[in-house]
Amino acid sequence: MNIRRICALYFSPTGGTEKIARFVTEELARHLGGEPAYVDFTRPENRQSEYRFAEDDLLVMASPVYAGRLPNKLMPVYASSIFGSNTPAVPLCVFGNRNHDQALRELVLLLEGNGFQIAGAAAFAGRHAFSDKVGTGRPDGADLEQMRVFAAKAAEKLSKDAPLPPLDIDRSEIGPYYTPLKEDGTPAKFLKAKPLADPGKCVHCGTCAQACPLHSIDAGTLEAVGLCIKCQACVRRCPKGARYFEDADFLSHVSMLEQNYTARSENQLLL
Ligand SMILES: Cc1cc2nc3c(=O)[nH]c(=O)nc-3n(C[C@H](O)[C@H](O)[C@H](O)COP(=O)(O)O)c2cc1C
Repeated sequence: MNIRRICALYFSPTGGTEKIARFVTEELARHLGGEPAYVDFTRPENRQSEYRFAEDDLLVMASPVYAGRLPNKLMPVYASSIFGSNTPAVPLCVFGNRNHDQALRELVLLLEGNGFQIAGAAAFAGRHAFSDKVGTGRPDGADLEQMRVFAAKAAEKLSKDAPLPPLDIDRSEIGPYYTPLKEDGTPAKFLKAKPLADPGKCVHCGTCAQACPLHSIDAGTLEAVGLCIKCQACVRRCPKGARYFEDADFLSHVSMLEQNYTARSENQLLL
C-alpha cells in the first residue's frame, strides 16, 4: 500500500484527544514518511466542509468518549462530512478513565460505513474533562509506549502490499448511551446545566466564547445562551478559572466519578 498523505482529524474541546491524535499521527508518519496535515474539528468553521479522502490517503480520526459513545451532537456531523474511497483509517477514542463502552466500535462502524478500511483502532485513557482527580496524569509514559507500539504495528500493516483484512470487532447494533449516576447511584440529570461565570474572576477576555465548539456563549455578554454539551472547553480554557458549573446533579456525578473511577483503566488496542 502506498500512502501519499496522512491527515488527522480530531474533535477536542479540552485538548486531551488532540494530544493523543497528534502523538499517534506523528508516530505513523515517522514509519510511513511524509508530513501530516491536521484538521481541528472542534472549530465550528472546520465543520462546514465535506472531507473526502482517496485510496492512497491515511485518515487518523480521533474523538472523545461522551456517555460511553461518540458525542451525540457530533456523531451525525462526522457521518455526513467525512468520506473515504477504500481509504485506510486509524480510529482513536479518548476516554476519561471510566469506560469507553461502545465508542470505539461506533467510530469503527461509522468509518467503515463511509468508505474507510481500518488499519487499527484504539481507545486510550486521558484526564477526565470533569475532574483532575479522574484519569490523572494520563496519558503517562506507559500509555505513550503503547501508542508507539500501536502506531508501529498499524504502519507495518499499511506497508504490506496487500489489502487490509477486516478488523476483528463486534459489528452488532450499538447500544444505548451510558446514564451518568449521582453519588447515591440514581441517574444524574444535567442535560440543561450551563456554565456560569464568577464576576469576581471574569475579566471579559472572551476566551470562553472563542473556545466553545458550539458557539453557544454570547461574545458580548459572555452568557451561555445556546446548547451546552458539557464539554468543559470554557471551564478548562478560562485563563482566570472563572467558569464553573453549579448544577447539583452534575456536581454529584463528578463526585461519583472521583469516588469510583480513580483506579487505572486499561487502553484497548485493536489491530
Ligand atoms: C460530556 C462528557 C461525557 C463524558 N463521558 C465519558 C464516559 O462515558 N466515559 C469516560 O471514560 N470518559 C468520559 N468523559 C471524559 C472524556 O472522554 C475525556 O475527558 C476526554 O479526554 C475529553 O476529550 P478532550 O480533552 O479532547 O476534550 C466525558 C467527558 C465529557 C465532557
